[in-house]
Amino acid sequence: MTLGAGQKSWDAKLQVRYEIVSSSMAGNPTEMMVTWNTVNSTNISAVEFGLNGEFSKTTTGYSSKFTEPEEGRVQYIHRVLLSGLKPGKVYTYHCGSPEGWSSLFYFKAQLNTTDWSPRFAVFGDLGNENAQSLGRLQEETQKGMYDVFLHIGDFAYNMYEEGGRVGDSFMRQIETIAAYVPYMTCPGNHEQYYNFTNYKNRFSMPNFNQSENLWYSWNIGPAHIISFSTEVYFFPWYGLHASENQMAWLQKDLQEASKPENRKRRPWIITMGHRPAYCTNSNHNDCTLEGGLVKRFFEELFYKYGVDLELWAHEHTYERLWPVYGGKVYNGTVRPYTDPKAPVHIITGSAGNRERHDGFGPQKEWSAFRNSDYGYTRMVIHNATHLSLEQVSDDQIQPAAQRKLASPPGIGLCMSDCSSAMVSDQGGNLWTALPSLNINMDLIHGSSHSRRGLCMSSCNGTMVTDQI
Ligand SMILES: [Fe+2]
Repeated sequence: MTLGAGQKSWDAKLQVRYEIVSSSMAGNPTEMMVTWNTVNSTNISAVEFGLNGEFSKTTTGYSSKFTEPEEGRVQYIHRVLLSGLKPGKVYTYHCGSPEGWSSLFYFKAQLNTTDWSPRFAVFGDLGNENAQSLGRLQEETQKGMYDVFLHIGDFAYNMYEEGGRVGDSFMRQIETIAAYVPYMTCPGNHEQYYNFTNYKNRFSMPNFNQSENLWYSWNIGPAHIISFSTEVYFFPWYGLHASENQMAWLQKDLQEASKPENRKRRPWIITMGHRPAYCTNSNHNDCTLEGGLVKRFFEELFYKYGVDLELWAHEHTYERLWPVYGGKVYNGTVRPYTDPKAPVHIITGSAGNRERHDGFGPQKEWSAFRNSDYGYTRMVIHNATHLSLEQVSDDQIQPAAQRKLASPPGIGLCMSDCSSAMVSDQGGNLWTALPSLNINMDLIHGSSHSRRGLCMSSCNGTMVTDQI
């Protein structure tokens, strides 16, 4: 159909299309931020939401004009903060305005206590092309397997390309996840174009007004999670103030999180930043260098404040490290990850993108396990003393003949409970939090801890290549 001159009403309606909806933690468990974009400006930015499928509440927010720098394309980013949510309740919502509404979505409000077990999907380096993990992550989202997503930098490849249409396409792809489960991010090197403009505009993380999604922290269950930018050190032409501001904020945030009263409630401190401090890949990236920038700026700080777990990406592989500080291994006394004496690092950048895989060089003594399959990490923070991780392979399919194997001797983890998950490596089956500064933790060891709940929810035919 061709519209003649003056026949613009149908077309105008189409332009007020509500798409690319995403949600994110707002920093307070009773709040949720909803973000979406439109091609045209609208009179108001509203979210109608409620329990039992009813739109009993309406909250309005604001919109910002986003002029994409490549071609000058204009779109409007809408942000609405929902508050007063009832913990654990499932809300249905749609967003828009009386001019037009989005599809119907839902989310589960976060629990407001420290004694629950949040479940995460964790990965980096997911692009539009060759997005190997996307289908499985979408399916597992719809099965209700996750409370939060952590995307550790490098989106779309690249959001600015084709006048931002590549960014639009990526956001549309992850809407199937992010409109239902909070999608938490940090910037990677692929976001650096035009001073991270697409990244800054398309997401709405906590502390957004101050740091434009570059650095922030939030609490969930028994954990304090810090997202920061490694990129401020690699693109100094955008201004040195960013690295200075981030470091000042980071020190203050770690200091606050480490106060005895805070660490007692939330003993886990977990960081996420794009470029790893360590890796054994066969390239010349920063993590392969003894004097790399990320080690230089963050290692001492994170060690000093007893950061438990450091999540990274950038390398298109998976690698798990023993507890490490200054290039030396500091394993725990009972098991490597039981009361470890230094932070543990996970590099999980193999979700899939057009650059394909990275290779590995010689393995170092601090490298516990590595794998170049496409995949992503599942993380469960069980309680104040136990956390578990498993790496899912998108390349390998669990052979039917192996689905009913018994557990590996002495481990007693998933295989006895879950007929379709397979463990190909176990470097230590339980994690415990680092003893924090100034408090004594009551550490619980393996025999008192059951992972049955985790395994049962993971029964979906995935191949797990690493599990700790
Ligand atoms: Fe990267």
